[in-house]
Amino acid sequence: MLLQDLERVLYSAEDLAACARRLGEEIAAAYAGEEVVAVGMLKGATLFFADLVRQIDAPLQFDFMGASSYGCSAQSSGEVRITKDLAADIAGKHVLLVEDIVDTGCTLHHLLPLLARRGPRSLRLCALLDKPERRKFDVNIDFKGFSVPDEFLVGYGLDYAGRYRNLSCIGVLKREIYV
Ligand code: IMP
Ligand code: MG
Repeated sequence: MLLQDLERVLYSAEDLAACARRLGEEIAAAYAGEEVVAVGMLKGATLFFADLVRQIDAPLQFDFMGASSYGCSAQSSGEVRITKDLAADIAGKHVLLVEDIVDTGCTLHHLLPLLARRGPRSLRLCALLDKPERRKFDVNIDFKGFSVPDEFLVGYGLDYAGRYRNLSCIGVLKREIYV
């Protein structure tokens, strides 16, 4: 039923599982046994986060954060609002932020410096998807899943109007659904 609204599938559940495995190994190697606080960005990154953390063979804690980036502009960071903050202090910790997709880069360009001011020992970013054609704000992605074309994607956490997050694959939404 939900699948009928896709123009095509970009990544199957198997592709996504393989990607989480690859990134999990890269991440475990990068931290070399040091404890990591993995921070999942609500709500889009939750499914990827759940798969990724199970592939990171290292001491690890979870936390979650919500941010909304309504009306982004280059001028100020006021347009990124924290809708749910971390439960614990990250000072002195190795923090790995886990995001679904970096699109314009606005959210993370403003959020990463805000987290850096809390004094983590390190702060790195893992993003499942990167849409480089749409980038307006510079963001350094330390661990990247896939680079995707400039199309509207749904599934595996990504939504359109709150729906389609529960698809196990990622696909391009049919234009007739959103125009
Ligand atoms: P940015 O601040 O423009 O980088 O936006 C990042 C956020 O926009 C992501 O965390 C997603 O929630 C959302 N987003 C960007 N591209 C897509 C897409 O193709 N489908 C669904 N959500 C998207
Ligand atoms: Mg998001």
